[in-house]
Amino acid sequence: MNEPVKKKQKKRVLSGMRPTGLMHIGHLHGALETFWALQDDFDCFFFIADFHALTNWSPGMNVKESNQNMILDWLSTGLDPSRSTVFRQSDIVEIPTFHLILSMFTPVGWLLRNPTYKDQVEQLKIESPNYGFLGYPVLQSADVLLYQSHLVPIGRDQAPHLNLTIDLAQSMTNKFGDLFPVPDYMHSDTPTVPGSDNRKMSKSYGNAIYIKDTEKKTEKIIKGYYTDPLKPYMGDPGHPDDCPVFYLNKIYIKDKDRIQKIRETCESGERGCGECKKELATACNDYLRPIREKRAEFEKHPEEVEKILKDGAAKASAVAKKTLAKTMKAVGIR
Ligand code: TRP
Repeated sequence: MNEPVKKKQKKRVLSGMRPTGLMHIGHLHGALETFWALQDDFDCFFFIADFHALTNWSPGMNVKESNQNMILDWLSTGLDPSRSTVFRQSDIVEIPTFHLILSMFTPVGWLLRNPTYKDQVEQLKIESPNYGFLGYPVLQSADVLLYQSHLVPIGRDQAPHLNLTIDLAQSMTNKFGDLFPVPDYMHSDTPTVPGSDNRKMSKSYGNAIYIKDTEKKTEKIIKGYYTDPLKPYMGDPGHPDDCPVFYLNKIYIKDKDRIQKIRETCESGERGCGECKKELATACNDYLRPIREKRAEFEKHPEEVEKILKDGAAKASAVAKKTLAKTMKAVGIR
């Protein structure tokens, strides 16, 4: 008799993002597309780190609205809730308790030495960092370990946090045995997308094209894009490899011959920057059109979006409950 073939368990990938507002094409090509591609090969958990958003609270901050925008951006760019588990951190009732337990096993020295913490305190000139800010990586560790994650895709700036997670997981495993896997992380080597001023695209620089922007607005931003300063006039030979418009055209125009043609005519001076920008606006809007339509559709149905998040939370909570129960027992509370 044939034994039923045991389905090979997919490894669990988990990642989260702080909801900081609308997402732009820098997020799209720099992170989201890489995240969503993992859905083919892994059991993915993606969540909105809304408690983490509070670590730098300021008056007027609206986390609820940012959550809403983030989930719309995610769903419209390719997060598939029928394959992945998607949820809000704050919906998981196990997270605060688990975080509290982990905090009892995290040396303060580890937190004070964290380079991301030190950099941020310096850069943002935070006079009196709050307790949650110092403990940011402990909550992040709780996010990773609670759901039995194996692999965490992150940006390079997050590595110190994840290294602390790995140390903490290792030290808990040494004390208590097998509660959760000691996770690993990976950097997706994705491009830094240039904004309209040729600096890294960022909300704080005001140089971004947002997923939610209209086609008109997108066109307008592209018209104002920085181009090669050595090519002020048509006829001047250009340097496409130093030009953010060329960079973006390479993302959106899939036809290699066309790109080669643009390169050659730019370098020879035949082609003006206005032409390149026009072509980019068309290609970028074409690319974003189905995404924007999908986003608008979801936006009309907030109850559906809420259901996706609640279903995701139920799935995540089922895993969380088990980890928490095991951990409570291991530390001797239960
Ligand atoms: N710190 C991450 C960021 O700023 C968000 C985050 C919170 C996270 N918890 C996580 C990422 C767990 C990966 C795993 O983007």
